[in-house]
Amino acid sequence: MIPREKIEEVRERVSIVEVVSGYVPLTKRGQNHVGLCPFHSEKTPSFTVNEDKKLFHCFGCQASGNVVTFLMRHEGMEFPEAIRTLARRYNITIVEEKRAGKGAWELVTGVNSAAADFFTGELKAPGGVKARSYLEKRGFSLTGEIAESFRLGYAPDRWDALTGYLKAKGFDLAFAEKAGLVLKKQRGGYYDRFRGRIVFPITDARGNVVAFGGRTIVGAEPKYLNSPESPVFKKADTLFGMYQAKQNITKQGSALVVEGYFDLMAMHRDGFTNAVATMGTALTEGHIARLRGYAGCVYTLFDSDEAGKKAALRGLRLFLNEDVPSRVVLLPQGTDPDEFLGKSGPDAMKRLLKESTALMDFYLEELSNRFDLQTARGKAEYLDEVIEYLAMIKNVAERGHYSSHVATALGIEVKALYDVLNTESKQTDRASFLRTAIPAGTSRLAESTILRVILKHPELLTNEVLDCLGRFQDTFLKRVAKAVGATSGGGRFEPSDVVDSAEDEEVKSWIAGELLKQDDGFIESPEKMLEDCIEKVLNAGKPRETTRRLIKRLEESGLGEVAREIKTKLGSSSSSGSGRE
Ligand code: UTP
Ligand code: MN
Repeated sequence: MIPREKIEEVRERVSIVEVVSGYVPLTKRGQNHVGLCPFHSEKTPSFTVNEDKKLFHCFGCQASGNVVTFLMRHEGMEFPEAIRTLARRYNITIVEEKRAGKGAWELVTGVNSAAADFFTGELKAPGGVKARSYLEKRGFSLTGEIAESFRLGYAPDRWDALTGYLKAKGFDLAFAEKAGLVLKKQRGGYYDRFRGRIVFPITDARGNVVAFGGRTIVGAEPKYLNSPESPVFKKADTLFGMYQAKQNITKQGSALVVEGYFDLMAMHRDGFTNAVATMGTALTEGHIARLRGYAGCVYTLFDSDEAGKKAALRGLRLFLNEDVPSRVVLLPQGTDPDEFLGKSGPDAMKRLLKESTALMDFYLEELSNRFDLQTARGKAEYLDEVIEYLAMIKNVAERGHYSSHVATALGIEVKALYDVLNTESKQTDRASFLRTAIPAGTSRLAESTILRVILKHPELLTNEVLDCLGRFQDTFLKRVAKAVGATSGGGRFEPSDVVDSAEDEEVKSWIAGELLKQDDGFIESPEKMLEDCIEKVLNAGKPRETTRRLIKRLEESGLGEVAREIKTKLGSSSSSGSGRE
């Protein structure tokens, strides 16, 4: 362990401009230095570095962080390695220390990381021969890059292998149990959860081991076993391989999404290094949100059987909602990417990617197969289905493109379709406006102002402000507020610390952007502004007279469902007590 103070010292003493200049030519502009972003391709510089705040931020691709994350991302280093590299360069001596009192997150990722070391050791050990030949048979050798970069391991087919190792290393097995590595025996003591399996460490985007997946090599059930869900590991929000892929995703501007562990490794092995995997579950909003900052377009790869097509279509609503362009790649019936690459090779995969279909086109194609467009009834049903999705398309040009496609398919004038579409989007807009805007919208501006003020004037972050941060309503600003709250724990609040420690890339990026904005000058009497905004936020939770009247009107006009939703929202926000978790 690198002592906390040393980490601080490195951050204090290292010049971010100096370090970054070693990789990216920078020129001074105002208080900032700017250059061409190394994380995406651009012709005019939007990559901004600020020595004062010790941050970088790209106003183009939203990449942001400090000097340490810069090295991690640019050089693919792990955190400790980046710290040590910088320390060496600035002659800071680091004496490692034994672990002391830590938060649950650190304990879980700590014990996971030790387990990962154990598993990789076992794969190389004499007892790992069967596991090695299994991997070999599937096209992965221990000497290859994949085994290394994914830290592949083997859990021996015994009850006490990892348990014994962790005990000997002095780990508290109660924490190993929390991490899902070991299970409690009826009569006391613990035993290994993963036995006779190839294990894949599942990391967060920064490379911390948050869980494991294990594939049996002894024919056990289930075929794949995962660590249980924990505060550190939410399967539906985690993409396997994100850590290894993210740099390539940015570089290539796209991500490839597969389902399985072996599929993912086969993709990376064969040069598709911008691939990530969902670990068997359907794609979620959380997954797409994780990708959004990095990928301009998301390709999803599916088996072309009925189930695969259905799965591909399930993504449509999510992608439209998140406004992320998406393409569908269909593999031959009954094959997954691993099998396809094994049989047909990377060039065939490249061809498939090239022949991919935009998800919306794919949907329209499927739709026209489902309805008989020769009949009036068929046309009506087709229109009924498609209109909702057309209304969800945010880009005007794209919406126009698909509208004329649909109009042609139906043999109607596009103008007629627009009329329907207008009513439809008004309804969707109105309903969604009412759903989101009533309880939260009135305070969104106040919420973002509060955040802006305390980022400029960190000394104003009092307990009262903290309490108010806990009552934010806007989904995104809530995340920012939470990160601010978590960082401010106890002592002095330093805005750039949020960028250092926040897990959430979008939050990080928002804060870094705010901090490095050139034009964001001076706020007249920040105390007063803060006070006003706090009052607005605190009052926003209480339903006002106008809202009650509105609810009544909604109910009367048959929009009872929306009214109920608003009531639920208002109910939950006004009963949230002190609001802080
Ligand atoms: P598949 O059953 O399609 O297996 O599961 P696969 O990846 O092709 O496995 P191999 O090639 O036989 O080794 C796809 C993904 O679903 C999840 C895993 O993430 C797996 O990679 N899964 C599957 C589970 O979590 N548990 C299971 O029991 C099965
Ligand atoms: Mn497979």
